[in-house]
Amino acid sequence: MQLRSAQFVTSATDLDGCPDPMVPEFAFIGRSNVGKSSLINRLTGQSGLAKVSATPGHTKTLNFYLINKDWHLVDLPGYGFAQKNLADRERFEAMIIEYLEQRESLIRVFVLIDSRLPMQKLDRDFVRWLIGADIDFALVFTKVDKTKPPVLRATRGEFEAIFRELGLSEPPMFETSSETGAGKTELLRFIAAEVASVVSEDEDDANEKGPGSEDATA
Ligand code: GTP
Ligand code: MG
Repeated sequence: MQLRSAQFVTSATDLDGCPDPMVPEFAFIGRSNVGKSSLINRLTGQSGLAKVSATPGHTKTLNFYLINKDWHLVDLPGYGFAQKNLADRERFEAMIIEYLEQRESLIRVFVLIDSRLPMQKLDRDFVRWLIGADIDFALVFTKVDKTKPPVLRATRGEFEAIFRELGLSEPPMFETSSETGAGKTELLRFIAAEVASVVSEDEDDANEKGPGSEDATA
């Protein structure tokens, strides 16, 4: 996919504040500091689009970007960062869960995993929650420029075991670096294919409901 344009649309703190669900949407989520905002900047080629910070917990809202005028990329707040205040943490979690469960235009969630670390409990719990909630997702192992191949293989292996144990097929997996650009082409190609398949399904629906078709509720 050629990335022709990327523009910030809006920030939201709940489902009502999200833009109209008119285009296919792809959300990036992961523990704080995993590299969500950096990856969004790398994918879009705009280094200042999403705010990157040395302080964990920088992204506090659902941030929507319109790409090529035909799909949304959403930067979600990091889960599990050390919130000083429990009420704040619960509010963030409620916001993310409401979005993931109810956003009708959401096509897929990319769960970012820090490839340098062994599987973290928060990541494992979140992946299990997505499986239970029947939400389509992919795993994105970040910061591979800082990870030795055996460490990366071990981290991947721990996640692969989750799916094996549950008898599920593996979700798509990507290995990326916002430093080197590794994985960018694969990720964008994958999103382009999903956008194209949503558009062709919509066209099929429109044809089925075309002139002369019966209204089943009549
Ligand atoms: P929150 O918004 O706080 O949840 O963080 P985030 O997941 O958006 O992470 P962010 O993109 O702000 O990056 C966090 C830190 O990791 C920054 O210091 C980045 O420079 C660094 N970082 C992100 N991606 C990479 C990468 O691919 N390689 C390396 N070496 N560093 C990275
Ligand atoms: Mg961020």
